[in-house]
Amino acid sequence: MVTKVIKIEDREPVDESGLREAAEIIRGGGLVAFPTETVYGLGANALDGEAAQKIYAAKGRPSDNPLIAHVADWEGMLPLVADIPENAKKLADAFWPGPMTLILNKSSRIPKATSGGLDTVAIRMPSDPVAHKLIELSGVPIAAPSANTSGRPSPTRAEHVLEDMNGKIELILDGGPVKVGVESTIVDLTGEVPALLRPGAVTLSMLEKILGKVDIDPALKGPLAGDVHPKAPGMKYRHYAPKAELILVEGNPDEVVNMINTKVREAVNANRLTGIIATAESQNRYPLGIVKSIGMRSSEESIAHNLFSVLREFDDAGVDIIYSESFPSDDLGQAIMNRLMKAAGYHSIHVIPKKNPEAEGDFKKES
Ligand code: TXA
Ligand code: MG
Repeated sequence: MVTKVIKIEDREPVDESGLREAAEIIRGGGLVAFPTETVYGLGANALDGEAAQKIYAAKGRPSDNPLIAHVADWEGMLPLVADIPENAKKLADAFWPGPMTLILNKSSRIPKATSGGLDTVAIRMPSDPVAHKLIELSGVPIAAPSANTSGRPSPTRAEHVLEDMNGKIELILDGGPVKVGVESTIVDLTGEVPALLRPGAVTLSMLEKILGKVDIDPALKGPLAGDVHPKAPGMKYRHYAPKAELILVEGNPDEVVNMINTKVREAVNANRLTGIIATAESQNRYPLGIVKSIGMRSSEESIAHNLFSVLREFDDAGVDIIYSESFPSDDLGQAIMNRLMKAAGYHSIHVIPKKNPEAEGDFKKES
């Protein structure tokens, strides 16, 4: 299959000509990658089980990992769900269209391939004008996971999608770099208490302001024991992983720089091609290794925006090992640290502020 790329030149108002072709492919049961405000999605008709099935094949995705159904408006969601809790209305008023996904009880319209065989369905109303228009023109809800090969970092540019999906899908809509850079916040509204299943740009404190108490899925607190499963099936996989070993270094930012320099010197002496994930503020403090800035420490938005593309750049550079700075894990930082920790397989080193600068605790929790 030849994968066509159509560049969307005008976004507001959005240029519809390429989108009509894309909508035709969706209606015909094919696959189209498209930009959303979070990451690029790989879309198919969510009501067509066979079409949704093709997504799993293109991504190499395990079939127990359900897809998010994207809708253009509130009316588009109604046929997909069995009931609408009061909290869904409140969250939709506050954050839709936008980077938030709600888990609700599904209706019989949702095929097994879309819901992964669960009784619930994930619904999102994206704000990106290309995504919005594509759903509208297709006239059906669009099932779309992130448009990466399973296990690779999520795509934040059309070039990333082409790397992973060339020859496997009909069309890529190139809407330029996405805005947010990390996937949507997932909130489960099917239990007694709303639960955060995946952190994103709609932060925990933003949710709490609307909902009051919000539970946090145990999977977000660290690796789970073998018999405990995260509520979002996809959160159990070692996602986002760069090809190289990635180790996070946590602690006071100054001491982190020193520790990374020590570790990089050791790695370089052992002939390992070594990468460093630094910030705009710190990048000149690393004399050795391949240094890339993930953004400004003073702007969490900039870090979320660059996170996945920096991981891909290190894949392209062919490094053996990457040391990364860490970030405070509140607000958007919760999403940033969740993605970095998962990319690292939870391998982190914590610099303990002691007189002895070599003192460290190695919190490797998972190999
Ligand atoms: O920002 C996003 O959400 C992007 C863009 C394209 O919209 N999509 C995305 O999809 O990140 P994906 O498939 O990469 O991640 C969806 C997550 C997975 O962890 C999946 O297990 C979870 O949502 N999920 C889907 N349906 C679910 C359900 N019924 N219950 C619990 N988790 C669910
Ligand atoms: Mg994904």
